[in-house]
Amino acid sequence: MSDKKITLEDIASLCKRRGFIFQGSEVYGGLSGTWDFGPLGVALKKNIMNLWWQMFVDDREDMYGVDASILMNQKVWQASGHVDTFTDPLVECGNCKARFREDQIDTAKCPTCNKENTFGEPRMFNMMFKTNIGPVDDESSISYLRPETAQGIFTNYKNVVDTFYPDVPFGIAQIGKAFRNEISPRDFVFRSREFEQMEIEYFVHPSKWEESFEMLRIAIHEWCKQLGLPESTIHELEVEESDRAHYSKRTIDFEFDFPHGRKELLGLAYRTDFDLANIHRVSGKSMDYRTKDGSEVFVPHVIEPSFGVERAIMAVLTSAYTVDQVNGEDRAYLKLPHHLAPIKYCVSPLLKNKPELVAKAREVYAVLKKKYGAVMWDDNGNIGKRYRRQDEIGTPYCIVIDFDTLEDGTVTVRDRDTTKQSRTTLEQILTDN
Ligand code: GAP
Repeated sequence: MSDKKITLEDIASLCKRRGFIFQGSEVYGGLSGTWDFGPLGVALKKNIMNLWWQMFVDDREDMYGVDASILMNQKVWQASGHVDTFTDPLVECGNCKARFREDQIDTAKCPTCNKENTFGEPRMFNMMFKTNIGPVDDESSISYLRPETAQGIFTNYKNVVDTFYPDVPFGIAQIGKAFRNEISPRDFVFRSREFEQMEIEYFVHPSKWEESFEMLRIAIHEWCKQLGLPESTIHELEVEESDRAHYSKRTIDFEFDFPHGRKELLGLAYRTDFDLANIHRVSGKSMDYRTKDGSEVFVPHVIEPSFGVERAIMAVLTSAYTVDQVNGEDRAYLKLPHHLAPIKYCVSPLLKNKPELVAKAREVYAVLKKKYGAVMWDDNGNIGKRYRRQDEIGTPYCIVIDFDTLEDGTVTVRDRDTTKQSRTTLEQILTDN
């Protein structure tokens, strides 16, 4: 294995070259902070989101899924504190007028025009995208694209309680888009203006929040393991009170060693009854929870694990990106966990000008495609080139149909990580996986 350090550029250029992620609106010169997922990117993204849903919802008895609207009544964002406090400090260069987030630059010198001491006092910039609902553009029609999926969960807490009667502790989970008008989107998809979150609000008895916090902390480590992230690259950062979000009494940031440094991958926060109490205050509706035996009535407290899909993708790609030597040449490939690979198998005939090989390979392809879906056909170039192409996108196995296949039904299976080839039957592949 090469010890060359992976750069953000390595990841971004692989993503573009091989159809994982493109700049949003690229054909028109792009739109800053937006990204489009290509065929392989959307497959990887869905595999990550499906794994999350399986681990945190389907495999558990205490979780309920929802899919709430992105547009919500403006009172949601007034009650949650986002209208007043979801801000970042913005500074503007007095010389070139470039704008930056104050905490991301050295304000002694403008990073764009290099002039010294041109920045005035910062002003607070609200990061929510504002819009109007319906044809009338006035105060009452204001709405926002949600900056977190969490509020769509809180506003459905009562609906879930009244329809499913869950015992506390229980969680409500959601995957969906979130939007933030970031002052300086940067570092590939790490800080985008439109991104996807996977969030859980876990409702607990107020005096028992610590045990659920710990349970979820451990579940997060298991999640990172399933993503194939080495334990040594995950770091828990206990966030100090002055740096915590306005609603949090305790937060752990799970940081990952990204190519551009150790940065937040996801967060775990104790939100107390902040959100439910605010909904009660603004809507006038009770958020009380009554135990089934009627012995206790309380407003639950909330533990929130919050995951960003794009950051998970970046962490997965960073961990999987591997350079080794094959036949004296550098080979860059994605050592993805098999359950995340966008393509599970690639099928080829050894020679594309032999109709009998192509027909047999098509048969094998059809069977695998029906069973696994994520199967690719590739008959371009020589076998070595096909292997390299599949290595680069992380396909665990390439299956080649040759003349022996026609004789004895066996196929060649080439392993991405070891580059070793072995012979087996289609039936064996289908039973093994
Ligand atoms: N509901 C809590 C919440 O939204 P957050 O720390 O602001 O907390 C949670 O965001 C996660 O969402 C982050 O850990 C990160 O993974 C992801 N995230 C936040 N802002 C992002 C952005 N601009 N681009 C990509 N991902 C982002």
